[in-house]
Amino acid sequence: MAILQIKDLKKSYGKHEVLKGITLTLDKPGIYALVGPNGAGKSTLFNCISNIISPSSGTIEVVGLKNTDPKIFYSCSFLKDNRVLYDYLTGYDHLFFIQKAQKLDPDRVKEVVDALDIESYMNKKVGDYSLGMKQHLLLALAMLNKPKLMILDEPLNGLDPAAIVKVRRLLKDLVQAGTTILISSHTLSEVDKMTQDILWLKDGQIIEEIIDGSGSEARYMEMFPEAMEQ
Ligand SMILES: Nc1ncnc2c1ncn2[C@@H]1O[C@H](COP(=O)(O)OP(=O)(O)O)[C@@H](O)[C@H]1O
Ligand SMILES: [Mg+2]
Repeated sequence: MAILQIKDLKKSYGKHEVLKGITLTLDKPGIYALVGPNGAGKSTLFNCISNIISPSSGTIEVVGLKNTDPKIFYSCSFLKDNRVLYDYLTGYDHLFFIQKAQKLDPDRVKEVVDALDIESYMNKKVGDYSLGMKQHLLLALAMLNKPKLMILDEPLNGLDPAAIVKVRRLLKDLVQAGTTILISSHTLSEVDKMTQDILWLKDGQIIEEIIDGSGSEARYMEMFPEAMEQ
């Protein structure tokens, strides 16, 4: 059974066709980087997978279930941007909410908080967090259910270099534990440190490639010359 299976996915906003027939199967744990210029449709694809928006046509299955089945969130998690956080609640409020909603062992909250080393501010209100602290909390929330599939939309935004190193290690550990990670990032040097499996989102289609040696930057310039001119 595939971890993620997308067939002929199309999504238009009015006359603007953003995704033009995406077909993709991920069937082994690993880190897969979705790369494309701003506006290519990365967030649109992730929002379709997690059923936040409906595609115009096509099908998506997550761990054998249709993506419209809320049960996928027992085995899948999605890190969107930090607007999903509540300023007047603490980090722990958020974590225990998800823990209860998903009927997870309460000890799992401590495990994740320790793994990310974020204990010192979990009792503070999110409104007082820096961008980096919010990113860490989002990541903690996404890890809680030990997902089979983890979708991360630009998770490195706002992180300082030390935090990026930590997150990279953590993602690699998650893969070791059997998680498949689908990540979008516009920081190509970071992408290269995390994975060689690149999914280029170009002209509304996905082109899969293994990038070795030369790194993704040279390839990006070939792939998106128009983005280089901006
Ligand atoms: N709700 C929306 N209504 C209309 N157009 C949208 C909407 N969301 C995204 N778009 C357009 O779809 C394209 C892809 O956007 P997005 O998926 O956010 O790209 P990315 O995440 O790769 O930067 C962009 O041209 C964007 O303007
Ligand atoms: Mg985006």
